[in-house]
Amino acid sequence: MYRDVSSCNTYNYGDACYWDSRYLQEGGSFDWYQRYSALRPFVRKYIPPSSRVLMVGCGNAVMSEDMVKDGYEDITNVDISSVAIDMMRRKYECFPQLKYMEMDVRDMSFFTDESFDGVIDKGTLDSLMCGADARISAAQMLAEVCRLLKPGGTYMLITYGDPKGRMPHLSRPVYNWKVTLYNIPRPGFQKPESCSSSRKSHLDPIPLTENGTLPADLVLEDPDSHFIYICTKIDDVDTYPLTAHVLQG
Ligand SMILES: C[S@@+](CC[C@H](N)C(=O)[O-])C[C@H]1O[C@@H](n2cnc3c(N)ncnc32)[C@H](O)[C@@H]1O
Repeated sequence: MYRDVSSCNTYNYGDACYWDSRYLQEGGSFDWYQRYSALRPFVRKYIPPSSRVLMVGCGNAVMSEDMVKDGYEDITNVDISSVAIDMMRRKYECFPQLKYMEMDVRDMSFFTDESFDGVIDKGTLDSLMCGADARISAAQMLAEVCRLLKPGGTYMLITYGDPKGRMPHLSRPVYNWKVTLYNIPRPGFQKPESCSSSRKSHLDPIPLTENGTLPADLVLEDPDSHFIYICTKIDDVDTYPLTAHVLQG
């Protein structure tokens, strides 16, 4: 259910060839980090079923199928791996709600500005941040995500990355995103009896400090938990493309 991508040096997660060979070898389906059942409360709260949704770096995950079964009607899935996209297109040819397209998330110029109500990313920014030119790739991807979101739309990032590693990328003023943070334990995690977590429910957001870090007194019950960043696009952004602005900053 989850694999550790924090060991970036072991594999080249930013490389299309790596993913192609992996999908050729493994076949089947696999959801990184979390299944839709665990993410459902967050997805339903921030991205209603009537939304036009973009799933970036869909891989061979079942997440989009589960969302369709839960009432979502329009999910466009993109991935850099032609192997994954071919497999998924064949698998879901009877699902008119699901579209699959081979695409690099750093250049999604196929889509016009403000085309989507919601963008979901489970492990794809993480992969780019493990690849070559991580900072530039992350900026290119996030600028494209911002461009594609309608004003008021939501970018939902599901990641192992804590705010120290992710907020410097997400909080750039040029995106104009309001960021709300959640944290959920790994699937199957058993809370030790001795654990004194300071949190009441996973459905409560975690307040971020002014510097965009976790509060010093926060105790996470699972040290290998996953973070969910809800990035809401406050307003229309004046100028596209944003990548140049981001890379200058
Ligand atoms: C960690 S996997 C996550 C797959 C899926 N989202 C899930 O939750 O199981 C990362 C995915 O990102 C894709 N990917 C990596 N770099 C990409 C890029 N530049 N553009 C599009 N997809 C990319 C990989 O092919 C892979 O399918």
